[in-house]
Amino acid sequence: MTVPFLDLTRETQRLRSELDAAIARVLSSGRFILTQEVEAFEEELAAYCGARFAVGVASGTDAITIALAAAGVGPGDEVITAPNTCIPTIVGVERAGAIPVLADVDPATYTLDPEQVERRLTRRTRAILPVHLYGQPADLTALAALAERADVLLVEDCAQAHGARWNGRRAGSFGVAAAFSFYPTKNLGAVGDGGAVVTSDEKVAERARLLRNYGERTRFEHVLHGLNSRLDALQAAVLRAKLPHLDDANRRRRELAASYGELLAASDLVTPAVAPSAEHVFHLYVVQAERRDAFRASLEAAGVGTAVQYPTPVHRQPAYTALDAPGGFPVAETLTERVVSLPLSADHSDAEIGEAVAAAQSASR
Ligand SMILES: Cc1ncc(COP(=O)(O)O)c(C=O)c1O
Repeated sequence: MTVPFLDLTRETQRLRSELDAAIARVLSSGRFILTQEVEAFEEELAAYCGARFAVGVASGTDAITIALAAAGVGPGDEVITAPNTCIPTIVGVERAGAIPVLADVDPATYTLDPEQVERRLTRRTRAILPVHLYGQPADLTALAALAERADVLLVEDCAQAHGARWNGRRAGSFGVAAAFSFYPTKNLGAVGDGGAVVTSDEKVAERARLLRNYGERTRFEHVLHGLNSRLDALQAAVLRAKLPHLDDANRRRRELAASYGELLAASDLVTPAVAPSAEHVFHLYVVQAERRDAFRASLEAAGVGTAVQYPTPVHRQPAYTALDAPGGFPVAETLTERVVSLPLSADHSDAEIGEAVAAAQSASR
C-alpha cells in the first residue's frame, strides 16, 4: 500500500455534491467579486471563531499585511515573530511596511517562547505575531499578558490553526486581529488562494475592508492607500460548503494524531507535545528524526510520503540573513534540521496511518 502525504481529491470527492452546488450557485448568480456570498462567509467564519467580524481577502499573506495595517502597524514599526515559520509570515509583515524581528521558539511546542519575545522588545516594537504552527496555538495566555504589559498589539497568524482552541477559546479571537489562509492544503482550504482577517474591533474591521479594496469607501472615493486583495465569490461559496465540516475533520485529525502518538511512543522519534491549554488541530503531524534524510528515504522506499515544514529558518534564507541576531535562534535552528511531517489528513484511513507507523518504526530503528 502506498500512503500519499496528502491527496486533496479525497476531500473534494467526500464533499462533491455540496461543492458542485456552491459553485453552480455562484455561476448562476453572474456576480463574482465581493458579493453576498463573501458577506455570508464572513459572518459564518466570524461566528465560528467567536469574533465579531471577518474580512475576506485574497490570501493568508495579504491577511497578515491587512490585519497589521488595519490595526495601526506601519513603516518603521517592529513586529516580533518566529524563525521557524514559512516565508509568507515575514512577507506579510514587510508588505505592511514593518520590520520583522525574530524571537526563538519553545523546544516542546515549537511556537513563540514568551521569554524570548520579551528579550526582543524595543521602543519600536508595535506588535507580536505568534504563528500557531502545525495547528497548535502559541502560549496565548503569556503572550497576551506580555503584549498588554509592553503596550504592543497581539496579532495571530492562524494560517495553520483553523478551529484550534486555547483554554477553550478559538485561536483568532485573542489578538486585536488574526490572519487566516485558505490555501488549498489548509484545514479549511479553498480551490485557489484566499484568506481572511478576523477581529472583534469594529474600526479594525472597517479599515481592513477599505484596505482590501483600493481604500475605497464609496464608489470612486478613496480614503486610504489600499490594495486589490479581495476574496472572490467562488472561493467564499466553496469555503461556506466546507466550514460546517471543519470540526469533524479536525476531530478526525486529532484521532489519527493520537494513534500516531501511541504507536510511535517507543520509537526514537520525538512526537508532538500538546500544551495543556491547547486543543491542537494537527494541520501537520510533525516528528523529529535525528537522521532525517535517511528516515525520509526509508519511508519513501516503503511508499509513504513525507514533507519538511520547514527546512530552513527564516534568518538562514539568502534574502533574510539580516534578520539574524547574535547567538542566532538555536531552538528553531535545531528544529529545522530535524522536523519531518508524516501523512495526516481527515481523509487518511486508519490502515494508512498503520502503514506509515510501521514504516516509521522500521526507519527509526
Ligand atoms: C504560517 C503561515 N502563515 C502564512 C501563510 C500564508 O498564506 P497564503 O499562502 O494563503 O498566502 C501560510 C501558508 O502558506 C502559513 O502556513
